[in-house]
Amino acid sequence: MEGGRRGSAAGAGTIVNLAGASILLVALLLCSCPTSTEAYDVLDPNGNITIRWDIKQWTPDGYVAAVTIYNYQKYRHIQAPGWTLGWKWSKKEVIWSMVGAQATEQGDCSKFKDNIPHCCKKDPSVVDLLPGAPYNMQVTNCCKGGVLNSWVQDPDNHAASFQISVGRSGTSNKTVRAPKNFTLVAPGPGYTCEYTKMVRPTKFVSPDGRRTTQAMVTWQSTCTYSQFLSQNSPTCCVSLSSFYNDTIVNCPTCTCGCQNNITQPGSCVEGDSPYLASAINGPGRDTLTPLVQCTSHMCPIRVHWHVKLNYKEYWRVKITITNFNYRMNYSQWNLVVQHPNFENLTQIFSFNYKGLVPYGAINDTGMLWGIKYYNDLLMEAGPMGNVQSELLFRKDKSTFTFQKGWAFPRRVYFNGDNCVMPPPDAYPWLPNASPTVKSRFLIPHAFFWRTTSSSTRSAQEAKQSRATRAPTWAALGRKGYKSGGGIMHSSPLKYTFRGNAQPCFSVKVSWSFRSSTSDCTFPSGPASISRSL
Ligand SMILES: *[C@@H]1O[C@H](CO)[C@@H](O)[C@H](O)[C@H]1NC(C)=O
Ligand SMILES: *[C@@H]1O[C@H](CO)[C@@H](O)[C@H](O)[C@H]1NC(C)=O
Ligand SMILES: *[C@@H]1O[C@H](CO)[C@@H](O)[C@H](O)[C@H]1NC(C)=O
Ligand SMILES: *[C@@H]1O[C@H](CO)[C@@H](O)[C@H](O)[C@H]1NC(C)=O
Ligand SMILES: *[C@@H]1O[C@H](CO)[C@@H](O)[C@H](O)[C@H]1NC(C)=O
Ligand SMILES: *[C@@H]1O[C@H](CO)[C@@H](O)[C@H](O)[C@H]1NC(C)=O
Ligand SMILES: *[C@@H]1O[C@H](CO)[C@@H](O)[C@H](O)[C@H]1NC(C)=O
Ligand SMILES: *[C@@H]1O[C@H](CO)[C@@H](O)[C@H](O)[C@H]1NC(C)=O
Repeated sequence: MEGGRRGSAAGAGTIVNLAGASILLVALLLCSCPTSTEAYDVLDPNGNITIRWDIKQWTPDGYVAAVTIYNYQKYRHIQAPGWTLGWKWSKKEVIWSMVGAQATEQGDCSKFKDNIPHCCKKDPSVVDLLPGAPYNMQVTNCCKGGVLNSWVQDPDNHAASFQISVGRSGTSNKTVRAPKNFTLVAPGPGYTCEYTKMVRPTKFVSPDGRRTTQAMVTWQSTCTYSQFLSQNSPTCCVSLSSFYNDTIVNCPTCTCGCQNNITQPGSCVEGDSPYLASAINGPGRDTLTPLVQCTSHMCPIRVHWHVKLNYKEYWRVKITITNFNYRMNYSQWNLVVQHPNFENLTQIFSFNYKGLVPYGAINDTGMLWGIKYYNDLLMEAGPMGNVQSELLFRKDKSTFTFQKGWAFPRRVYFNGDNCVMPPPDAYPWLPNASPTVKSRFLIPHAFFWRTTSSSTRSAQEAKQSRATRAPTWAALGRKGYKSGGGIMHSSPLKYTFRGNAQPCFSVKVSWSFRSSTSDCTFPSGPASISRSL
C-alpha cells in the first residue's frame, strides 16, 4: 500500500501484548469527532468570499461598474473549471458589454435593433475569460479561467475582477437598484450568498499613490461555504500507520460510498480494468462526478499519516495524499492538519507550510500545499496520483508521547473539506508503554539529510554539524535524489526555509565514485545534501 511503508520497524514484531493500548483517550474521541456541517468553520471562522460591485461612472442609460470577487478563505480555493457568478436584476437592466468576463447566455435581446446588448437575461450567469484572452478584453485580476486561489496559499491571486456596462438601470444613486440574490458556483454548489447591501464607497488609490478616487455607489454581498450543501457524502478520508505497530489502519469502510455492483454498476473502476479508458470517457465525463478507483472507502482522496521515526529530540511523520479519482487533476491542492506538535514543527520537506492560528496564541494547525511547478498538481488516479512530504517535529517533553494515539492528527482537511478519520479505538497501539521499550525505538541522532548509500554516511555525519546550524532549511533534492529517508524528488534543487521553497543562491556539485554532493549556499550559510547514484 502506498504511503503505508514501514519506517524503521525496529523490533516491532517482537513486542507482544498490549493492554496499554486499551486506553484511547476520551479527549481524543472528542477532538476527532467528525464533520461539522454548518457553514461555520472553526479553523477559519471568518472565511468568506466577498463580491463587491463598485459603480465607477454613470452612462446615459446606466453605469459602468467594476465587480471584484475576493476569496477571504484561508484554505478553500476555486479550481478549474472555475467560478460562475449569477444574480437577479432588480429592474429591467441589460448588460451592454463586459471586459474580463462574459455572460454564458445572451438571452432574448429581440427588442433591440441597433445596438445589441451582451446579455438580456433577467438572471445572468457570468464566467471568467480564459488565460490568453485578447488584450482589449482584459482587466486586472481577470482571465484566469475562473481559478481563485486561497488567501494564505497565494495572496496575490485571491481576487478576480471584471468590468460591466449596465443599461436601463437608472443613472443616479437614487434610481439604481442593487443586483439581488447572488449565486456562486465554484464549480459545484456549496456557497450561500447573503443579500446585497450598500456599503461605504470603495476608495481607489492611483498606482503612484498620489491620488484617491472613489466609487459612486458600492454594493457588497458575502458568500459562505458549507460542506453539507456541497456534497452529501464525504470526499476524503485518513488512514494511519506507525513504525511501532505493523497494523495499517485503513480509512473506514464505505466512508465516501460503498461498492455496489447491483444498484450502482460502474460506481468505481479497477485500476487494471481494460475498460478504464472507456469508463473515464464514458457518461459523466463533463460533469464533476468523480470516477473513483475501487477501494473499500471509495473516496476520491486519501491522506495517509505514517509515524515514521523516533529520534531523541525529534520525531518524524510522512504524509502521503493519494488521488483515486480518474477524472480530476487537483491543481493548487492544499491540506490543513491539526496536531498539537505543529507548534514545534522544525522542518518540512517538499511542501510549503504556513501555520494557521485559529485561536490566538495556539498554533496547532498548519496548512500544507505543493510547491509551484513541482508538486502543486495532484494528478488523476494512477501511478502519478500522489504527493508526499515528511515533517520533522521537535519534541516538547511536557506533551510528547506515542501513547493513546497522540502522534496522529486531530483533524485533516483536503481543499477545505473535512477528511473522515478512523475511529480512535482503531488507532495503531503502542506495543508497550514502559520507557525501556520506548528507548528501543529511539534513533540516537537526527540525520537531517539521509541517503540510502552507506558510503556517504560519514560525509553525512560530518555535515550534520553544519546542518544543525541552520535547522530550518530543508533539502528538496533533484531527480534521483532521495531525501527525507525515502522521498524521490524530480525537481531542480531547492530548499525550504520557514516553510517556503527557496532556490539556492548557488549550487556546486562534486562527483565521486558512488555519489555526488551538491553544495547549496543561501543567506545563512552553506548546507549540503548528498545524492546516491
Ligand atoms: C469576510 O472576510 C473578511 C476578511 O477576513 C472580513 O474582514 C469580513 O468581516 C468577512 N465578512 C463576513 C461577513 O464575515
Ligand atoms: C446619493 O448621493 C448623495 C450625494 O452624494 C448623498 O447625499 C445621498 O445620501 C446618496 N443617496 C444614497 C441613497 O446613497
Ligand atoms: C432572493 O432571495 C430572497 C431571500 O434571500 C428570497 O426571499 C427571494 O425569493 C429571492 N428572489 C428570487 C427572485 O429568487
Ligand atoms: C463488483 O464487480 C467486480 C467485477 O465485476 C468484482 O470484481 C467485485 O468483486 C464486485 N464487487 C462487489 C462488492 O460485489
Ligand atoms: C490531467 O493532466 C494530464 C497531464 O496534463 C492530462 O493528460 C490529463 O488528461 C488530465 N486529466 C484530467 C482528468 O483532466
Ligand atoms: C507558532 O507561533 C509562534 C509565535 O506566534 C511562532 O514564533 C512560531 O514560528 C509558530 N510555529 C509554527 C510552526 O508556525
Ligand atoms: C514548542 O513551542 C512552544 C510554543 O511556541 C514553546 O513554548 C516550547 O518551548 C517549544 N518546545 C520546544 C521543545 O521547542
Ligand atoms: C497494533 O495496533 C492494533 C490496533 O490498531 C492492535 O490491535 C494490535 O494488537 C497492535 N499490535 C501490536 C504488536 O501491538
